[in-house]
Amino acid sequence: MSDFTGRTIVLGVGGGIAAYKACEVARLFVKGGGAVRVAMTEAATRFVGPLTFQALTGAAPLTDVLDAAQDRTYGHLELGRAADLLVVAPATADLIARLRMGLANDAVTTVALACDCPVLLAPAMNTRMWANPAVRDNVAMLEKRGWHVVGPSSGALADGDIGPGRLADPEEIAAAAARLLGPRDLTGRKVVVTAGPTREPIDPVRFISNPSSGKMGFAVAKVAARRGARVVLVSGPVELHDPPKVKVVRVGTAEEMAAAVEEEANDLDLFVAAAAVSDYRPRDSVSQKKKKGDEDEALVLTRTPDILAGVGKRHSGRAGAPVIVGFAAETEGLLENAKKKLQAKKCDLVVANKVGRPGAGFSGDRNRVVLVGPGERANVEGTKEEVAEAILDWAVELLDSRRPR
Ligand code: C5P
Repeated sequence: MSDFTGRTIVLGVGGGIAAYKACEVARLFVKGGGAVRVAMTEAATRFVGPLTFQALTGAAPLTDVLDAAQDRTYGHLELGRAADLLVVAPATADLIARLRMGLANDAVTTVALACDCPVLLAPAMNTRMWANPAVRDNVAMLEKRGWHVVGPSSGALADGDIGPGRLADPEEIAAAAARLLGPRDLTGRKVVVTAGPTREPIDPVRFISNPSSGKMGFAVAKVAARRGARVVLVSGPVELHDPPKVKVVRVGTAEEMAAAVEEEANDLDLFVAAAAVSDYRPRDSVSQKKKKGDEDEALVLTRTPDILAGVGKRHSGRAGAPVIVGFAAETEGLLENAKKKLQAKKCDLVVANKVGRPGAGFSGDRNRVVLVGPGERANVEGTKEEVAEAILDWAVELLDSRRPR
């Protein structure tokens, strides 16, 4: 049986005869320890009553995004945000077409648009419909966008035809879902992540900062929580939502960030310093707005605490020390600087990031990095979540050898 402990799975149910089998799919997710939330198309509610899913999952399905009571607190966005995985079963020909087009004309398509998690489609329809080039094209396009497909299987269909079109077995759908959700290999571990920029005030209305979006650190926190860790994310000012199941501490200055990390440093297993901490702050921050004059102004800067180096120094050489991961954003000398940082800050891994070119760096959703360890090196390119997975794969291996559970 697949394990879904700690996972939130959103099940989108389409309107086909196989909708009754979606009840079994929901039951398998619940049986495996998952939290299941259901969204149904109008047509799906004609095949299976929402009450059935409510009884199976313990939560009322979302069936109508225009119903004031159901969508009171932006239910479709809440579902999209909470989902670790969206499973659409059965994915009918019509639903697949609407998903491909990016429509938002019912609960399932709207939730799908609001999801940024992996999506698994379990198609089910008449075999001639499945063979139709329009359906083939729609499925191919969704796969090209990174969606996954399980089934359909072949056999006798409800309508009497024989051929591919049957919904994959519920067990097969559950197993595919478990594979997509990935391992829970950080269960029992405490992970602290820093993210975003810091703001160092010059006066009450001005500050020194940088354009870090926080996306990389947020991705690490989100993925670590998905992999079972207890995660504390200490973030500077960013415009991002709290990742699900993560304790988020919002701070302003480097000193506040250092204090928040210190507060959480006790039973630390893994520290990931993804924040773009300001290295300097104005020495004399003033409490009243500075008036402009005609002359040049000099601003005296003083160093901020190096949070990463502080954690590294504290644990360096200790048996069973936490795993420490730093970042190096460089415009030149990427690898040499990463190696220097590895030693100087006593990290186990430095994620080296060439900034100032397209496809990587501060504000995008993708990243291109080199993971630099004491003896090894690996190039990783992908979405920030994929990069986060690669960083955590590496960290888990070291953590398990250093601090066996
Ligand atoms: O030395 P540099 O700023 O390039 O090092 C970057 C790494 O050090 C990042 O992991 C960053 O989060 C961390 N850092 C820190 N505190 C600082 C400066 C950098 O934790 N004051």
